[in-house]
Order: sequence, then structure tokens, then C-alpha cells
Amino acid sequence: MAKKADAKPAAETPGCKAAGNENSLGGASDPASRSLQSATIGDTTAREDARPTSKNSLARRTGEGRGEGGVPRPSDGRGIKGEGRPSPLVDTRVIYCGDNLDQLKKLPDACVDLEYIDPPFNSNRNYEIFWPETSEKRRFDDRHESTKAYIDYMRPRCEQLARILKKTGSFYYHCDWHASHQVRVMLDEIFGENNFQSEIIWHRTLAKGLGFKGFPNNHDTIFLYGGGGEITFNRPYDPYDLDNLDEKTASKYSHRDPDGRLYQLDNLLNPNPNRPNLTYEFLGHKKVWRWTKERMQEAYENGIVVQPSPGAVPRMKRFLDEQEGRPIDTVWTDIPPINSQAQERLGYPTQKPLALLDRIVRASSNENDIVLDAFCGCGTAIVAAQKLKRQWIGIDISPTACRVMAKRLKDKRVCALSEDEDLWAIGRGFIVRDLPWTEEKLRILPPFEFENWAVIALGGRKNKVQVGDKGIDGRIYPVGVTPRETGAGELALEESWYPIQVKQKDKAGRPDMDAFETAMRRAARTKGFFVSFDYSEDAEREVTRFWKEEQRTIILLTVKELLDGNFAHKLV
Ligand SMILES: C[S@@+](CC[C@H](N)C(=O)[O-])C[C@H]1O[C@@H](n2cnc3c(N)ncnc32)[C@H](O)[C@@H]1O
Repeated sequence: MAKKADAKPAAETPGCKAAGNENSLGGASDPASRSLQSATIGDTTAREDARPTSKNSLARRTGEGRGEGGVPRPSDGRGIKGEGRPSPLVDTRVIYCGDNLDQLKKLPDACVDLEYIDPPFNSNRNYEIFWPETSEKRRFDDRHESTKAYIDYMRPRCEQLARILKKTGSFYYHCDWHASHQVRVMLDEIFGENNFQSEIIWHRTLAKGLGFKGFPNNHDTIFLYGGGGEITFNRPYDPYDLDNLDEKTASKYSHRDPDGRLYQLDNLLNPNPNRPNLTYEFLGHKKVWRWTKERMQEAYENGIVVQPSPGAVPRMKRFLDEQEGRPIDTVWTDIPPINSQAQERLGYPTQKPLALLDRIVRASSNENDIVLDAFCGCGTAIVAAQKLKRQWIGIDISPTACRVMAKRLKDKRVCALSEDEDLWAIGRGFIVRDLPWTEEKLRILPPFEFENWAVIALGGRKNKVQVGDKGIDGRIYPVGVTPRETGAGELALEESWYPIQVKQKDKAGRPDMDAFETAMRRAARTKGFFVSFDYSEDAEREVTRFWKEEQRTIILLTVKELLDGNFAHKLV
């Protein structure tokens, strides 16, 4: 996808230039940003080289294996020896927990190859899980009470994203009808109108038929902008199904060779009439041809060049089975949303299908390029990046989201990546930074976030629906048990599982145990887990009584044990 000659580089847009200068250099005095900037401030060579020329973008395309600043890029995804960072400019394979505005400001200019964002839109359905009825949600609603407020919120973030995007890079903004009209105007201003590449329509669902007045809004919009140079683009194709060809392709490839192969007859004339060395007579026709005379002759002898009828202008056979498929255009109808049975489903309504991010990451980056998602939710973009051997950076403001994606990356069936500072330091595994999790901080988390934290830290799954499951906040499934999804999106009750109850209290007491015992009896469970900061003596006595009289076990766990990771023996 070649750029237009007059394309305006992102760094020259007024907003970006100011942001870039201010933040990448001025930020050096900010202690939090020093680790990121150590490799860039005072090392102007590395910074300059971070703005790729068409030469080094070509180097990436041809896999020469040299990264920014001429530093060899490890092709096996390991770190630069001694540095513990796969990219010499920025730390990658990191999930940052925090407001992306703060995190993006710490990144150097022109360091990212591909950015994807899927911010919560002006619609409640998008954040009801990460922000249920808590003060967090109310604050968020207030902030987004109008489209203008939403755009005002997004603008400085997009300016930062434009600043850190390489010239060869691509930026994808995923949104829906609520604000897409305003988003496009804002992005034109920030990235430059000439850097607009595509408006992709993702037909995400077929739902909401009859009960919906008017035309159902069943698509999302994904805007694609380039960084100002020749952007990386690996054209995606929809492979032809040779056994079930669509009508249009079948009529195009209407000829059949004796061996059964379908082909169409294609033009051999050169579009450039001024090519003297390609101008010659062939089979009685003097024309400007695409190929040299020798190549034409060879193709003719091999039956590739034919005369459709005696005396006709020669044409070439283009075989269907040699074509990559139908080039994917801007209307994507072939990627279904995540359904209730999907294996990748984590239970968050905003989760996007891996196939969608797989297409974006493949199209707009190459191995070892840096992919960044600044609103990464369940981490679909970073999972796609990891699976495709890209480097990645994820940012999310919600500690719950950060834990969910860490769990997803670690899952053996997903990426099997270790969350381990030591491994990360030698270029493997990943880390989560800036999580607010000390005992003090956990005490002041909104109750919903605290419950999520505890359930996920225990390796459990949060209850989606509280109705009928009163007094149970989550469930642990023994290793090897894959819970069955019911039609309602809940997990099947009759499977083997242990209930979890969480109380954000200094000392959980006897009444808390009584309530959990009732819930366990109702759910016919003989073992359950309780999480709190501490327990009263009464509570401990009640747990002993419960075991002696009813042979049901409640395992008491403290927040400290969960923070220290010192509880595995209690789960057995
Ligand atoms: C729509 S979800 C993203 C879903 C994601 N694409 C996926 O497939 O899982 C939006 C995410 O943005 C996060 N978010 C909202 N405001 C943010 C901010 N200022 N900084 C970082 N993350 C933010 C929310 O916590 C939420 O997880």
C-alpha cells in the first residue's frame, strides 16, 4: 500500500509535534520514565534510526534481521544479550496497568510498528463488566456523557499514539456508530488526512432481527491510518474453495485444462507502450509485450501462452489453483463474533475474536515488530501478536483486565508464556507492571475489583450471574475439568467445582461463615474457599464445627497468602 507523495508525516501534525517534543525529552526528568528512556535520551543515533527509512523498512520486509539503530534483531524472540529487552528502544512483552495517557507519554517517539485500540465507546454495554455498578462506572459515565466529552478524552491519547508510531507503522481505531463520525474527523486532524488508509466495516453479528425498530446496527468500524511513510502491508487473501466456487469466480475461471485445472485467459500486453526491447512480433502480432521474446517462446512451448482461436492475439493461462485467493477488501463479513460456545471466550462482552486481531497483526506487521494495544481489555491483540512472534506492549487501566490477560497469556492452550521477572530479563516470558496490589491498595479497591482480584489470584472463574448463586463469588475447577457452558453463558452447575467467597474485610467473622455455609449447602458443595484480610477466632471455631458436624470444609485464605503466592498447599 504505497503512500501518497504529499502524505503528512504524523510528527508534523501540530498536536503530535508538540506532544512528542514535550514528552519524549521533557519526560526524562520523570523518574518513572527513566527506565524506558535510558536507551534513547542521550543516544540520538538510536532515536534517529528509530524513524525508519524506506531502506530499513525494506530490510524488515526482506527479513535481514536488523532492528532499530542497526542492532541485530533476534529472530528467535530472545532478548539482546545482557539487556533483557527484545527491543533496544522500549521494553516489550509488558502489560502496564494504568491510564494509557500516562504510560504512552513515557514511550519514545516513533517506536511502534502497529497500534490497535478498541476504547470503550459512548455506550454502556462496553464497560458493564469491567465497570459494573461501582463508583468507577459512574465516574466513567460522567466523563463520557456526550460524544464531545468522549472525543476530548480520546484526543490526547491519540496524539500520543501518533507521536510514538513509526512512519512505516499503522494505527487501527476500532469503534461503532456511536462516535465513529467524530472519531474520523479527530483522526484526520491528528494523523493527517493524507494518512487515512481505510475504513473497515466488520460485520460483527447477525443478531437483533425482529425485535429491533429500524435497521439493526450490526457492524463495527475500524479506521486505519498510516504513519506517514510507506507502511508495512501484507495483503490478506480469502483462499478460494475449489470445491465450492462462488459464481463470480467460477465465471471468471471458466476454462478447464485436460488435467481438470481451471484457468482464465489473461492479457499479455504491456501497459507501457514505450518499451522498445519488449516490442517484437509473436505469432503474427507485433505488440509491446509484458515478457521478453525468449520467455514468451518458452511459455508458448509449455502451453501457458495460447491463441484462443486461430490467428488471435496470444494470451496466457492464469490457473485458479495458483492464485492466493480473493484479496480481502474493507468489508469483513467472514469473522464471526465470539459465541457462547467459543473456546477462546473469557466471558467479557467487549472481547474481540482472535481471528480479527490475527488478520490485523498479520497485515500490518512482520515478525519481531512492536505491536501496542493501549486499551487492551482481555488482551486479544497481544495474544495475536505473541502467537505471530511479534513483540508487544499492552496497557489497561483496570487491574482486573490486566490479571485476566496475564492469565490468558499463561494458559497452556493459548500462549503458555511465563509471567516471570527473571525470565523476562533474559528476553523470555512477560511481566505486568504497576499493578496496584499491595495489602494497602487492595483494601481501597472497589469491591467488584477486589472480588475479581481474589478469584483470579486463586485461579478461579468469576461468577457471571449472581442470581441463584447467592453468597458465591467465583468457582475453582479442579485441574483437568473443563467446565461446560450452558446456553445462558453460565457454567454448568453439576460439574465438579469449589465455591469461593470473598470479603474485603479486616476480619471476617462468624456471620460471614454462616452465610457461606448456607450457600455451600444450597449448592451441595463439600469444600469451599473463603478470602479475607484476616479472620476472627469465632470464624475459625465455626469452620471447625462445620467440618465436625457436617463434614464440609471451608479453607480460610488471607490476602497476604494470595499476595505471597503461598497457598497452593491449601488448594489440594
Ligand atoms: C472495549 S475494552 C477492550 C477489549 C479488547 N479489545 C479485547 O478484545 O479484549 C476497553 C478496555 O479499555 C480499558 N480502558 C478504558 N480507559 C482506559 C484508559 N484511560 N487507559 C487504559 N485502559 C483503559 C478498559 O479497562 C477496558 O478493558
